[in-house]
Amino acid sequence: MAELSQILKQATGVLAARGEGAQLFDEQGRRYLDFTAGIGVTSTGHCHPRVVEAAQRQVATLIHGQYTTVMHRPLLTLVERLGEVLPAGLDRVFFANSGSEAVEAALRLARQATGRPNVIVFHGGFHGRTVAAASMTTSGTRFRSGFAPLMAGVHVAPFPDPTHFGWPVEQATDFALAQLDYVLQTLSAPADTAAFVVEPVLGEGGYVPANERFFAGLRERADAHGILLVVDEVQTGFGRTGRFWGGEHFDARPDILVTAKGLASGFPLSGIAASSALMEKAWPGSQGGTYGANAVACAAAVATLDVIEDEQLVRNADERGAQLREALRTIADKYDVITDVRGLGLMIGVEFRDAAGKPDGATAVAVAQEAARRGLLLLTCGAWGQVVRFIPALVVSADEVDEAAGIWSDAVGAVL
Ligand SMILES: Cc1ncc(COP(=O)(O)O)c(C=O)c1O
Repeated sequence: MAELSQILKQATGVLAARGEGAQLFDEQGRRYLDFTAGIGVTSTGHCHPRVVEAAQRQVATLIHGQYTTVMHRPLLTLVERLGEVLPAGLDRVFFANSGSEAVEAALRLARQATGRPNVIVFHGGFHGRTVAAASMTTSGTRFRSGFAPLMAGVHVAPFPDPTHFGWPVEQATDFALAQLDYVLQTLSAPADTAAFVVEPVLGEGGYVPANERFFAGLRERADAHGILLVVDEVQTGFGRTGRFWGGEHFDARPDILVTAKGLASGFPLSGIAASSALMEKAWPGSQGGTYGANAVACAAAVATLDVIEDEQLVRNADERGAQLREALRTIADKYDVITDVRGLGLMIGVEFRDAAGKPDGATAVAVAQEAARRGLLLLTCGAWGQVVRFIPALVVSADEVDEAAGIWSDAVGAVL
């Protein structure tokens, strides 16, 4: 008899049997509003009929067309379709399975293309759990502890996080850019720095949006020193923030874009995109893998793109996000310990702090658990777990948003 290892920690005790849109059902048929979307993965909702149909058709045709051995049509179609949504100039793509792998693919490309060893990441960023990705992750020691030594060559500069510093966004941005210059002057010389790696909105780090001036500062320094700007859109991409890419809010202009999660509505698929000039600097055959660009995952990704376009899900994310933020702010106004409601589109964080102003993870978890008991699934994030995040599928309806806000209000009232 075997048991699941305690290495894996679960936020809820729900035994999910079936999913539909923004809802999950357990084995007893109890319905939950799923405002976790599999950590922002089920962009078109659970089991969207068009994604299901595309995947089923592909399963019956070709499951594994191993991509270092053969080409297959879903892969070629996906490359073509991504060309329609990728930021201008990013016209070469490479696929892997998970976000972490794609981050590592971006790292490999950046190091090979520049011949430089170091990367600079931004404090609070999450880039994954594999060793190189974990080395670039600074959103919590829980992702880094106990398996040192981590990869060398990673330096950390501040992210412009107004809530963490307790400063206006302008001051936090000035500080972040000044400290970045200090890092380039004292820790990682530009000639040793391959890339800046950054999220448009800190995800695991607490749902903190960056801003346009910060990205302009990154672009300016990248251009001045031949450093590449790697934008990690694993969580923010595919419509999540109410724009197709989170970086669009800030005119991010990446040299390398990293995508995963919402890309295939739940099938494991990730990728990186860059210009052909940059990709051509990577060593031929230097990247690959057994499962990358799995045919069923690629077919699901093509269907995901169709659904996002036909059902105008980016617009829905923007509108439902505004509706949800407003409802959550009205509730927050009644409680001193809810100190912030922030985010873009359907990537919204609600922060809890105690009377002394300290991040309060215990209360955030207690409220999330109470919400789960009442039928609303939520996750926490932030260095202290002090932020409850709302990330429903992009298909979420106005009624579901109202229902979720009602459950949240009751859960907060029951705990506080
Ligand atoms: C911004 C970001 N990058 C990378 C990752 C790692 O992705 P994966 O868990 O698929 O390896 C995540 C996962 O949450 C993420 O949010």
